Amino acid sequence: MTELSQERRLVTSIPGPKSQELMARKVAAVPNGIGVTLPVFVTRAGGGVLEDVDGNSLIDFGSGIAVTSVGNSAEAVVRRATAQLADFTHTCFMVTPYEGYVEVAEQLNELTPGDHEKRTALFNSGAEAVENAVKIARSYTKRTAVVVFDHGYHGRTNLTMALTAKNMPYKEGFGPFAPEVYRVPLAYGYRWLTGAENCAEEAAAQAIDMITKQVGAENVAAIVIEPIAGEGGFIEPAKGFLPKIAEFAKANGIVFVADEIQTGFCRTGQWFACEDEGIVPDLITTAKGIAGGLPLAAVTGRAEIMDAAHAGGLGGTYGGNPVACAAALGAIETMKELDLNARARRIEEVMKGRLRTMQEKFDVIGEVRGRGGMIAVELVEPGTTTPNAAATAALAKACHAEGLVVLTCGTYGNVLRFLPPLVIGEDLLNEGLDIIEEALTRV
Ligand SMILES: Cc1ncc(COP(=O)(O)O)c(C=O)c1O
Repeated sequence: MTELSQERRLVTSIPGPKSQELMARKVAAVPNGIGVTLPVFVTRAGGGVLEDVDGNSLIDFGSGIAVTSVGNSAEAVVRRATAQLADFTHTCFMVTPYEGYVEVAEQLNELTPGDHEKRTALFNSGAEAVENAVKIARSYTKRTAVVVFDHGYHGRTNLTMALTAKNMPYKEGFGPFAPEVYRVPLAYGYRWLTGAENCAEEAAAQAIDMITKQVGAENVAAIVIEPIAGEGGFIEPAKGFLPKIAEFAKANGIVFVADEIQTGFCRTGQWFACEDEGIVPDLITTAKGIAGGLPLAAVTGRAEIMDAAHAGGLGGTYGGNPVACAAALGAIETMKELDLNARARRIEEVMKGRLRTMQEKFDVIGEVRGRGGMIAVELVEPGTTTPNAAATAALAKACHAEGLVVLTCGTYGNVLRFLPPLVIGEDLLNEGLDIIEEALTRV
């Protein structure tokens, strides 16, 4: 197969006629609830581009929502997964196990923060990993309550919908939700009423006060938090907030769970985002970037907590599928070989530099934030902090039309987020930023 050319190339309007035909088939065959951000149908992808059925080549600032950090069809992922496909595709690890699963567990036990003894259990999706982290924490603590945060996102299953903050589109009409879930404030500096400088201290005090008064710390099994809130708007909690919450958890026998499903595996310029403030979580949930695009998820954590659940209490038919495990080993090999943490930090440098210059020119940009290859701009009504969802949607549309895949997020729908594959070339990165700048002049 020919090498995928690392260039943006538009030969039709976006979406092109063949994509439009396929979209009509999608509408007739797939339910409305499965939304599509940009209806171009992909035939090949790799490096920093996606090629579509009409022969267009688009720049990828989405990575399939933070998944293809090593790029699509990364060499080591394809090599290892292909070899595994030829050997065997499934036995069910719970029936007759295989080495790949154990090797992924060993790698995760080593790569995640903390040098204590650890265990890892594998699953298929991020939501499943979060559900299992809660099961494990409940089994260990013999408590039931789970504390989560404003702006948090943890998935679309019943329990993870309950853990998720935003109603529309994730929860609307899908209740009732799982009980014993309590939500407390997140240190969102940009929107903290008394100012960003007071945010960490005040938000932590409020969160701890609410837990203590409304739930009772002794009833809390787990505190589940994203070190950077992803779907909620790439909100990096004000510095000092996470350590305070982690300390509170430790002092009260609560399992501290870092949901690193979006932030993990080099995305933020470190193996895991919680390393930034030296947090050592009791449990850590991972998925997305773990296996170069194959479905795999994990819960990794302290041996004594992970071993609390009785034999047969955890698992699932496909959890830790051998092909997905082989892909994960290929993805981790690529991350180490190419030093994707360094690449993520370089992406941050380039993106933040240019976006901050744009912020000076365009007062619709309220804040530029994020870490590594997880960067966002929050858009506001000029001169205010009022969320500007209309400008965000218009900007995303303008980028799409020019062949740049970007995603939106945020509790108020006013955040444009950028998650390029960490292997993207710097030329493409800059070309994508040119498109954003040009779109800003028009919006
Ligand atoms: C932080 C976080 N947790 C959990 C999930 C759910 O993962 P999945 O879609 O694989 O179920 C996501 C997905 O976006 C996420 O970003």
